[in-house]
Amino acid sequence: MTASNRIIFFDTTLRDGEQSPGCTMHHHEKLRMAHQLAALGVDILEAGFAIASEGDSASIRAIAAEVQGPVIASLARCKQEDIEASARALEPAQRKRIHTFLSTSDLHLSAKLKITREQALEQIGTMVALARTYVDDVEFSPEDATRTDPEFLIQALEVAIQAGATTLNLPDTVGYCIPQDYAAMFLNVRARLPRIDQEGIILSAHCHDDLGLAVANTLAAIEAGARQAECAINGIGERAGNAALEEIAAALTVRRDKLPYTHGIVMNQLYPSSQMLAQCISFGAAPNKAIVGANAFAHAAGIHQHGVIANPLTYEIMTPESVGQPSNSLVLSKHSGRAALADRLARLGHPLDREQLAEVYHRFTDLADRKKNIYDQDLIALLQADRAAASV
Ligand code: KIV
Ligand code: ZN
Repeated sequence: MTASNRIIFFDTTLRDGEQSPGCTMHHHEKLRMAHQLAALGVDILEAGFAIASEGDSASIRAIAAEVQGPVIASLARCKQEDIEASARALEPAQRKRIHTFLSTSDLHLSAKLKITREQALEQIGTMVALARTYVDDVEFSPEDATRTDPEFLIQALEVAIQAGATTLNLPDTVGYCIPQDYAAMFLNVRARLPRIDQEGIILSAHCHDDLGLAVANTLAAIEAGARQAECAINGIGERAGNAALEEIAAALTVRRDKLPYTHGIVMNQLYPSSQMLAQCISFGAAPNKAIVGANAFAHAAGIHQHGVIANPLTYEIMTPESVGQPSNSLVLSKHSGRAALADRLARLGHPLDREQLAEVYHRFTDLADRKKNIYDQDLIALLQADRAAASV
């Protein structure tokens, strides 16, 4: 078994996330987000891909100089110029990591890189060793690990370990895995390379959401021995995105009974982080997005509203406050019952008795049939109309 049950959160919002459509951030936005990610308690903050542009390199450098707390990481292909660019950008960081990667699937080797397996092994060994000359903390990712021949994957990881890699990340680059596949890969790697557990080398999960399984796959990997989860706020990232940080953190927290792991995420910073990201990029979380969506704690059905008024636990598995959402909300619509209407009116300063409520509720359902959203001012107007009718 792996020695520790603490999960290391590796945030890639500013790298895998930022490189996806609509998510480009300016320098000052990246810095602002990086400070927020530190407040959120991420362990590793992948600040960018230093070789990609002058701008990326400058942002990594500024984050490395300013942001205290997390280890700051830069991505690098297994190429000398990438590793040197990462090392330069990371220079001011107190704690730094070079994250270097090379594809290992036959498809990527032949179609994209046009190199043989032997050349890939040579490149991995040389470049991981070069990265180690700059930093003690080197992560190696065999890109497209989940479509790599399992025997060759073991060889690639063995070379990376031999060259000094301290974290081995096994990305499901194309989001192809289902949880049992992904877990089996981690178990096989640990069985075939006992040095990983013996020497405390960290195994890491990096999942894309093409089948909507990124979080499930990450949790499966954790149960199979991964101790680092790579993820992004609001699940942003290439194509369908990365595993959503807030969902992994919430699952580990709410289901501690079945997932007995610890982590350093400051839970009530999840919603503020999501909101800040939405201000920096061109879209926010979908309204029905778990944990941070506008409707994540909104109740519309009358039966649910009645239950939540009596006791929020009837329909909520965590409080909105625990993840930093202001409060739950009872959305008034044609699905709402008397209890929700009475509750809202009382909060607005208009407690009603049974008879008054019956009258207003009648007008309310009439309005709700015509209008999708009922706002507080609509209720006040209803009440005023009701009182005017009564005084005639
Ligand atoms: O999805 C992927 O394979 C990556 C690697 C660079 C880790 O993002
Ligand atoms: Zn990725």
